[in-house]
Amino acid sequence: MHHPSLCAVAVALLSALPSAQAGLYAKKSPVLQVDAKDFDRLINKSNYTSIVEFYAPWCGHCQNLKPAYEKAAKNLEGLAQVAAVNCDDDANKPLCGSMGVQGFPTLKIVRPKKGARKPTVTDYQGQRTASAIVEAVVQNINNYVTRIEDKTLDKFLSDSQDKPKAILFTEKGTTSALLKSIAIDFSDVIHIGQVRNKETKTVEKFGISKFPTLILLPGGDAPHVVYDGEIKKEPIVKFLSQAGQPNPVSPPPKEKKKSKSSDTKAKSKASSSSSTTSSSASSETPAATQEVPVIVETALPIPSINSHDKLIKECLNDKSHTCVLAFVPEGGSEKARKGLESLSQLAFKHAQGKRKLFPFYEVPASNEGAAGLLKALDLPARDVQIIAVNARRGWWRHYDAADFGVESVESWIDAIRLSEGVKKKLPEGLVAIAVEESTASQEEAASKAATPEATPEGKSEDATKVTPEASGEAAGKPETGATQASEPSAEPETAHDEL
Ligand SMILES: *[C@@H]1O[C@H](CO)[C@@H](O)[C@H](O)[C@H]1NC(C)=O
Ligand SMILES: *[C@@H]1O[C@H](CO)[C@@H](O)[C@H](O)[C@H]1NC(C)=O
Repeated sequence: MHHPSLCAVAVALLSALPSAQAGLYAKKSPVLQVDAKDFDRLINKSNYTSIVEFYAPWCGHCQNLKPAYEKAAKNLEGLAQVAAVNCDDDANKPLCGSMGVQGFPTLKIVRPKKGARKPTVTDYQGQRTASAIVEAVVQNINNYVTRIEDKTLDKFLSDSQDKPKAILFTEKGTTSALLKSIAIDFSDVIHIGQVRNKETKTVEKFGISKFPTLILLPGGDAPHVVYDGEIKKEPIVKFLSQAGQPNPVSPPPKEKKKSKSSDTKAKSKASSSSSTTSSSASSETPAATQEVPVIVETALPIPSINSHDKLIKECLNDKSHTCVLAFVPEGGSEKARKGLESLSQLAFKHAQGKRKLFPFYEVPASNEGAAGLLKALDLPARDVQIIAVNARRGWWRHYDAADFGVESVESWIDAIRLSEGVKKKLPEGLVAIAVEESTASQEEAASKAATPEATPEGKSEDATKVTPEASGEAAGKPETGATQASEPSAEPETAHDEL
């Protein structure tokens, strides 16, 4: 087919065209297109396993491979990188030579080695079908998931106790590619474990009744949260990122390059859902992806303030910055539940966007300090009362809309952020002095409350962490209500999408 002189003519024509280094794959192809400049960063330095095709656009076997290769890329989205290097491009020829490429196409699997600077490279000699390629790559995904048994649970939990952990409860004896990829994303951030359903003590300890179920242990004594969203990579990563930001798929580019389409692709690829067809082309950086307002199905509950001392320490001393407090009556109410859910969604959203936001707290209205504060502010203790208070500046604001839905609460929060709207003056005597002897407060209890280290500097992360006070028992009991797991609704498309 390829008459040498015809090929030569074709190449001459191509090189005559401006920037017509036409590769085999279209810009929007699921195949990650890598060149010599990017290879080290996107492939060698990635924590993901990659398969790389070294090809020439004119080669017939390369053209024949294209549909299967693109299909493999789609199936492996979020799990591994499927990349291609055009060896016909002069700039890539030294790279192809140094990788020992002698014919086209040459397929190599590049597998990162933890702790080593260089990855391991092996030739792929298998069939050139999508399923054979997918299987071979999946076999080469690193596994950082810890298998937990009843007898090793305590060790898993006590290992760096304050660090977040996540546990998948499953009927399977193997670790899925999806869970492996999640453990890679959160390597050194969240320790991921897997428990088989026959480990009955562990299953009972967390009150698990369905498989698979994924739980997040935010760290310390904070209670665990049950994931009840879809079994898809993107929502799971969003859920887990409440406890820590995932690693990028590859290091960011050193300097700004004019052709950043390949970077963009690399980043959005592995972090996007494996079952959506093509991840939004608009995402420039991971941060930009996260700007999209996503309602997660299980945002961590906002932390709770259960004592007057703590209320003073966090929000009511003369050094404290803005706090949002939701006073909730005993037994709760539909409005209270909705208001708290809206606040946890907003805290989550802001944490995703890495924007600073004042902390949100739930305060039981029956707590002595809370009752006194509500009285002083002339707020009846019913349903739910949400206020913002800045003790340092001496102002407060009341959320007085009837609707506790997320949009309505968000516009109130935004107004506070932008310092719009009316601030009311805090009544005298509510704010404690942040030294040993605090001054008058409505409660006698306040007099011994304030402590010198009392000032949270308005860290937005505070709002997403569950404090030890949030629940008497850590991680020991099944969650109730909103955090209950529900039946995973979607049928996964391919086996590797499953947990
Ligand atoms: C990538 O890693 C392989 C395997 O260690 C090595 O042979 C190759 O030179 C590296 N490529 C680049 C561009 O750094
Ligand atoms: C790879 O994982 C390590 C933790 O094991 C992390 O520190 C590093 O940032 C990750 N690399 C990239 C490119 O994200």
